[in-house]
Amino acid sequence: MENFQFYSPTEFVFGRDTEDKAGELVKKHGGSKVLIHYGGGSAERSGLLGRVRASLDKAGISYTELGGVKPNPRDTLVYEGIELCRKEGIDFILSVGGGSTIDSSKAIALGVPYDGDFWDFYCGRAVAKAALPVGTVLTIAAAGSEGSGDSVITKEDGGLKRGTGTDLIRPRFSILDPQLTCTLPAYQTACGATDIMAHVFERYFTNTTEVEVTDRLCEAVLLTMIKETPRVIADPNNYDARANIMWAGTVAHTNIVGVGREQDWNSHGIEHELSALYDCAHGAGLAVIMPAWMEFVYKHNALRFAQAATRIWGCQMDFEHPEVTALEGIKRFRSFLHSIGMPINFAELGAREKDIPALVEKFGIGGGRTGGFVHLSAEDIAEIYRIAAKAEL
Ligand code: NZQ
Ligand code: ZN
Repeated sequence: MENFQFYSPTEFVFGRDTEDKAGELVKKHGGSKVLIHYGGGSAERSGLLGRVRASLDKAGISYTELGGVKPNPRDTLVYEGIELCRKEGIDFILSVGGGSTIDSSKAIALGVPYDGDFWDFYCGRAVAKAALPVGTVLTIAAAGSEGSGDSVITKEDGGLKRGTGTDLIRPRFSILDPQLTCTLPAYQTACGATDIMAHVFERYFTNTTEVEVTDRLCEAVLLTMIKETPRVIADPNNYDARANIMWAGTVAHTNIVGVGREQDWNSHGIEHELSALYDCAHGAGLAVIMPAWMEFVYKHNALRFAQAATRIWGCQMDFEHPEVTALEGIKRFRSFLHSIGMPINFAELGAREKDIPALVEKFGIGGGRTGGFVHLSAEDIAEIYRIAAKAEL
């Protein structure tokens, strides 16, 4: 195991009706003038925003609102949010929604105290020194942004999707009420489940040895997702299954399952080019990319992939040919994704094979990020897109 520091200062408030505590939590964490930031309307329609406003009113906290965050959140709304916060003297951002809304909130939080362009933090031109505090009321179990120090934003001009990471934007508190996720369409539920599993796999495939505790934590989250996802697809109102998935999504991405080990993250980088170009859901893009990445890299450590196959997917170990077991595990992963309604190739995602050179080129802009498990060249990345394009069950 490698040395590590683990900092996860977020106060998680979990369970039924916990959104009614939004006002008291903002107050506890020092907010007095709040920006409520939200998405395209689901939080208004479900009545959640009304309850959050009532909670702030009860706590005597004034607020301004900015809605309209789109999935794959854009820089344009971030600029608007920064201006609004400065004009209104906002000292706390309350994010009501999913990963996109939370990431947009975090970007605004970084931009308000910064003299330059907030995009500097996303293209590696500057390192953040300050941010407004952010709290969240989560409505979809997926990105894990409610507990992470990351934010991913798409620049409209040029369609670049890029992330930044700093502990400054880890939420001060996150309210997790599983009931709020019951209104999710099955497709969004499945996209979220795929993203949660991908966050674990990005950490599971590592070159670091002797990481038993984090291996086992990763496996626990993955086994939970395999059990609970079909239950919520079949019965969207199953509170207990929703609750397990919601906590799994947070645990998967605070990094508690990934400390002390080298991590990969190439699949995320490769996927982000798909959601930037086609505006598809991040989880759907991962369903197409991650098994393809696995098929491309498994020989790097077939035994680790065989371990995943036996412990997570229940495959029989072929001791003479561990690569056969490894491939069986990858196959079962893809079949599982298909069974919950995810696309498994370019055609099902709405992507085009002819765009592969452009996808690879954009991946390279900004330094050509490469993974920790296997370092990939531009040609390797093109091959992964080609495998993903043609994948079948
Ligand atoms: O905008 P509204 O109307 O709220 O609709 C949303 C949106 O259309 C809808 N939705 C959310 N909660 C709902 C609901 N519909 C009905 N009932 C509810 N309770 O779901 C759609 C997707 O929402 P979005 O916030 O985009 O989903 P998600 O949480 O998957 O976030 C995806 C974004 O997070 C980034 C992704 O790249 C993507 O841009 N990521 C952020 C990470 C981070 N900050 O740590 C890590 C991830 O790897 C990921 O990259
Ligand atoms: Zn993700």
